[in-house]
Amino acid sequence: MTVLVAGGGLIGLAVAWRAARRGLAVTVVDEDPGSGASRAAAGMLAPLTEAAYGEDALRALSRESLARYPAFLADLAGDGGGTVRLRTAGTLEVGFDADDMVSLDRLHAYYVESGLPVERLTASQARRREPALSPRVRGALHAPSDHSIEPRALHAALLAAASTVGVHIVRSRIAALTVDNGRATGLRLADESQIAADQVVLALGAWSGTLPGAPPLPVRPVKGQILRLRGDDGLLAGTVRALVRGQHVYLVPYAEDRLVVGATSEERGFDPTVTAGAVHDLLRDAIEVVPGVAELELVETLARWRPGTPDNAPLLGPSALPGLVLATGHHRNGVLLTPATADAIADLLTGGTLPAYAAPFTSDGRDL
Ligand code: GLY
Repeated sequence: MTVLVAGGGLIGLAVAWRAARRGLAVTVVDEDPGSGASRAAAGMLAPLTEAAYGEDALRALSRESLARYPAFLADLAGDGGGTVRLRTAGTLEVGFDADDMVSLDRLHAYYVESGLPVERLTASQARRREPALSPRVRGALHAPSDHSIEPRALHAALLAAASTVGVHIVRSRIAALTVDNGRATGLRLADESQIAADQVVLALGAWSGTLPGAPPLPVRPVKGQILRLRGDDGLLAGTVRALVRGQHVYLVPYAEDRLVVGATSEERGFDPTVTAGAVHDLLRDAIEVVPGVAELELVETLARWRPGTPDNAPLLGPSALPGLVLATGHHRNGVLLTPATADAIADLLTGGTLPAYAAPFTSDGRDL
């Protein structure tokens, strides 16, 4: 069985690596692997604090994927990917005023009713966990199992491990899916050359709905602008999130002296602009939550596109076109859902069926 993966971001590479470990001959095609959403992602592995009310199926998939992370990282290290650190200090969702406290109480009750691990903290308990928090913080929720990982380190590890297990990477632009007799047969590249395969996996992130020859897919780009900052060691132990003037902001440490601050969520197509307004708002809100952010060096600003779907959940498994398998639409949770997606698609490619945990995420029967 030969497999062609369109897209060398975290999802595409992880699928390729997992499939190749199971003996399949896998080629990944990407002009610049890891330059899309994987480059901008903050790396929150946050089934509680990233899912909205009612997104219970997505949360279940997210928890499944998070549970797979330790073995996934151990396998990566075993295949020459080196050690990628899972940061396990948990996540604090903080609030500033009486309205925020009501909202944290409701969220707390909802998580507890759903059997999810969470603690309601007073302001001083929150500051004991994160001394850099603003003195204006009135209370918080602590989600001890919402972790994080540095997505760029994970991508580098996947590239190394994929190469160890024989994944072939073609750094070319994809022009179209080739289709013969109603079946996907491979990819045509920008230089007009073609690569054939028994199965093609569509892992083009926000571009998944734009591949000529592929069936229409309800995947759209949702622009996110983020900032990377550097300072002294130890500003934050774990992720801190807040709602400031109605806007969500998160601060995610990805090294002892580095933070990501994010993110906007904009319906502006593939607009690549980093705007002064977004940088201003993100910094203003982050400084309100953690005043010490004002002292940090701003080292990078970036805009990329999440692969959004109508119900915010990924599209996994068979498509309407035989021979074309979907591994896309991960919206805000691509890093978190990488292990579960890779294992599910590898199961499908080798055994013909998706595992039960992924079955609700096929495009069939969804209101998309
Ligand atoms: N998962 C964070 C974001 O999409 O902004």
